[in-house]
Amino acid sequence: MRRMPRPGTLWLAALALACTSAAASAQDHTYSSADVATGVRLYGAQCQLCHGANGDTVAGVNLRLGRFRRAVTDEDLAQVIAKGVPPAMPGFAFSADESRGVIAFIRAGFDPSGTAVKVGNVERGKTAFSGKGGCATCHRINGVGPLTAPDLSDIGAQRTPAALQRSLLNPSQAMLPINRPVTITTKAGKTVRGRRTNEDTFSVQLVDDAGQLVTVVKTDIKAMDAATASPMPPATKALTPDDIADVVGYLLSLRGVQ
Ligand code: HEC
Ligand code: HEC
Repeated sequence: MRRMPRPGTLWLAALALACTSAAASAQDHTYSSADVATGVRLYGAQCQLCHGANGDTVAGVNLRLGRFRRAVTDEDLAQVIAKGVPPAMPGFAFSADESRGVIAFIRAGFDPSGTAVKVGNVERGKTAFSGKGGCATCHRINGVGPLTAPDLSDIGAQRTPAALQRSLLNPSQAMLPINRPVTITTKAGKTVRGRRTNEDTFSVQLVDDAGQLVTVVKTDIKAMDAATASPMPPATKALTPDDIADVVGYLLSLRGVQ
């Protein structure tokens, strides 16, 4: 006779698995508060003299807001800290933990209790975006791709790393009101579904499910409902935490036509 595992044991095992993976995922996507605390200390001692308490005293660089002249990713920041920017900024012989701490403090927006999002490699992120992430099947960048989802050509100039990560991990929760999918019923009894690209006093413009740009005059509208669930699947379905950090890096590098 085959022995069946007791249901109670199975359930506990499943619960334990769920708990460890949940705990791991929060850590995988962000730096720890211990890292941020290390950064608070080191920034005050080593960087503040030149970059100021708010990180904005060097022209063209705002460390608190994550605006740099050349650096985009965490790897880039680690390089800047290790090598400096000769002759303006000296390099620092930090341990890996110390360097990670300073980067965490910068990514937390100088908030000692802030969330410090990891920002990975731009090239790998670009590959994941059009490859296994499946993002390019909905999003348009620099004139390439469909119109069904928001154009991301300058998203890196609009959003912080934390906001981008939130959109990827939990699209519905992060969805902006304008991006809510709408269903319009006209007085003539027609139904139009799609994504609003613009709305003013007189009309609503939307891209319908077939990717066509449609304008509906408001006086023709009988009802308009905006859904609160995003059509976008959470990126965790297709991507690992490292892939997601890379895609955030790629999105941050998108700054439109310069
Ligand atoms: C002696 C002054 C000085 C100190 C100390 C200093 N920096 Fe800088 N840093 C600069 C200057 C000046 C620049 C702009 C260099 C340039 O782009 O020509 C800069 C640029 C940067 C950049 C932007 C690089 C880019 O791509 O735009 C980062 C990031 C940075 N510093 C981080 C730090 C951190 C972190 C520390 C402390 C560990 C630090 N700096 C200490 C003077 C300093
Ligand atoms: C099925 C289509 C679809 C796929 C696949 C998809 N998205 Fe989206 N995405 C949308 C739609 C629709 C929105 C607008 C609603 C919202 O904000 O959730 C959106 C919103 C976003 C936003 C927020 C835009 C803003 O203005 O803040 C980002 C960033 C984003 N997507 C990136 C991605 C990335 C990266 C991937 C791949 C990992 C991806 N999307 C995959 C449809 C999609």
